[in-house]
Amino acid sequence: MKPKFSIEHFEEIDSTSSYLARKVLAKPDLPAWHICSADFQSAGRGQRGNRWESGSGENLTFSIFLRPDFINVNRQFLLVELFALAVKEFLEGYGIDARIKWPNDIYVGNRKICGMLFENSISDSRFSTSIVGIGLNLNQVEFSSNAVNPTSVAIETGSCVNREEAFTNLVDSCFRRYTDLATGITTPQATEADYLASMYRIGEFHSFQRLVPGTEPLNVTYKKDALNNSNGIFSAKVCGVTAEGLLELEKADGSIETFGFKEVKFLI
Ligand code: BTN
Repeated sequence: MKPKFSIEHFEEIDSTSSYLARKVLAKPDLPAWHICSADFQSAGRGQRGNRWESGSGENLTFSIFLRPDFINVNRQFLLVELFALAVKEFLEGYGIDARIKWPNDIYVGNRKICGMLFENSISDSRFSTSIVGIGLNLNQVEFSSNAVNPTSVAIETGSCVNREEAFTNLVDSCFRRYTDLATGITTPQATEADYLASMYRIGEFHSFQRLVPGTEPLNVTYKKDALNNSNGIFSAKVCGVTAEGLLELEKADGSIETFGFKEVKFLI
C-alpha cells in the first residue's frame, strides 16, 4: 500500500516552509503530503513577516505540502479551520484544553502554544497548492524575551514529552481531519461549527484594538476617533467567522462588524 505521506527530516534548515516552496518549484509534480521537518530552523518564518524562534530539538517545526483542490477559494478558510482543529485535538491527547485564537494561533489560557503559516496558490477559483507550516512548542520551557506570551506542552503538563511520538500523532491528526473533509466524511459546515465552538474568547466581551490597514501590528498606530475612542480600543465579543475567514465582532449596541487579519488586535 502507498504510504500516506513522505517525510524529509533535517537537523538544521533555514525554514521548512521555504524548503518546500523551493522543492515544488524544482519539482512541480511534487506529491501532496510531502512533509519537511527540522530540529532547528535558522530562519523560521512567522506571520506578518516575523521570525519564528524555536529551541533546537525541543519543539515541532514542520511544513506540509498539499494540493487542496477540493476546496473552493471562497471557502479557503476551511483549510485553516481544519488544521487548527487538528492541533487542538492533538493537545487534548495531553490533557491540554486549547482554544483557537482567530485566525490560526493556538492558545492555552492567554498563552500561545502553536502558530501556523499558510502559503497558498490558487488557480481557476480552486486551491492549487498550499504549504502549511506548523510550529508547536513541546518541550521548551524558557523563551527569548521577544516571544509573545509563549507556553509549551511541557509547561502546561509539567513533564517533557517524546518528540517523535508527538510528531506522528500531530501529523496523523492533521491527515485524518484533511482526509475526512476531502472525502466527505466531514462536511464544511461541521468543520466551521467545530472551529466556532473552539474559538478563544467566543461569546464573551473583551477589549479589541482597531488597527489602521497597512500598518504593522507590532509597530501599531491606531485609527483615531474609531467608535469615538481616542486609541481605537473597543469592547466586543467574538460571534463568528465568515466563509472567507473574516472575524465577526458584536459590539455592545448589538451591531456586528467584520475584520480582516491586519485590521484588529485582541488585547490580552
Ligand atoms: C506564527 O507566527 O504564529 C506562525 C509560525 C509558523 C512557524 C512554522 S515552524 C515550521 C514552518 N516553517 C517556518 O519557517 N514557519 C513555519
